[in-house]
Amino acid sequence: AIADDEKGHELDLFCVPRHYENDLDKVIIPHGLIMDRTERLARDIIQDMGGHHIVALCVLKGGYKFFADLLDYIKALNQNSDKSVPLTVDFIRVKSYCNDKSTNNVKVIGGDELSNLAGKDIVETGRTMQTLLSLLNECNPKMVKVASLLVKRTPRSSGYRPDYIGFEVPDAFLVGYALDYNEYFRDLSVSYTNIKINMHLNKNIYLY
Ligand code: IMP
Ligand code: MG
Repeated sequence: AIADDEKGHELDLFCVPRHYENDLDKVIIPHGLIMDRTERLARDIIQDMGGHHIVALCVLKGGYKFFADLLDYIKALNQNSDKSVPLTVDFIRVKSYCNDKSTNNVKVIGGDELSNLAGKDIVETGRTMQTLLSLLNECNPKMVKVASLLVKRTPRSSGYRPDYIGFEVPDAFLVGYALDYNEYFRDLSVSYTNIKINMHLNKNIYLY
C-alpha cells in the first residue's frame, strides 16, 4: 500500500523525457519496484493455478506493460521449475475513461477466447472490471482471476477487489508504464508516479 502522504521521488533523479518534463510532479513507484512486485505476483499466480491451462487476457491499452512483464515472469517460472502451466494469450480493449474521469459507459472491443486470468492496469471505481467480468461469465469459464497492477483507494470505489493486486495507490491520477491521460504519457516506459500535470485542467494530476 502506497500511503496517501507518500512523497515519491524527485523527477530530476530519473531520466524524464523532455516532452513531459513540465507536466509531471514526481515518481511514485519506480520501475524496479513494479518489476519486483510483478515477479512475486507471477509466483503467486503459478502456485494458485495448479496445472490448469491459463488463457491470459490482456486488457488494453493501459494493461499492456503489466501484462507483458507479468507473462515474462510466468514464462521464466515455467522454464525454471518442476511445475509449469500451459499458457495462451488474448487481447481485449476496454474504454471507460474520458479525460480524468471514470464514466458509466464501458466499451469492450475484441477478444476471441475466454480468460482464466485477466491482466489489467488499474482499478478505480471497479466498474470497468465488473462489466468485463459479467461479460466473461456469460461464457461459463472454469475460473476467472483478475490481476491488476494498481488499485486506487477512493470513495468512488464500488468495493470490487481484484484477485491479485500489485499496489494500492492514493486517490490521484497516475500515468506512465502504459497508463495514459487522453493517450498521453503511455510512452513513459520508466514508471513515473505521482507526477503533477497541469495540461488543460486547473488541477494537478498525479502520474507514476
Ligand atoms: P474504473 O472502471 O473506475 O475502475 O476505472 C478503471 C479504468 O480507468 C482503468 O482501466 C484506466 O483506463 C482508467 N483509470 C483510472 N484511474 C486512472 C489513473 O490514475 N490513470 C490512468 N488511467 C486511469
Ligand atoms: Mg486510459
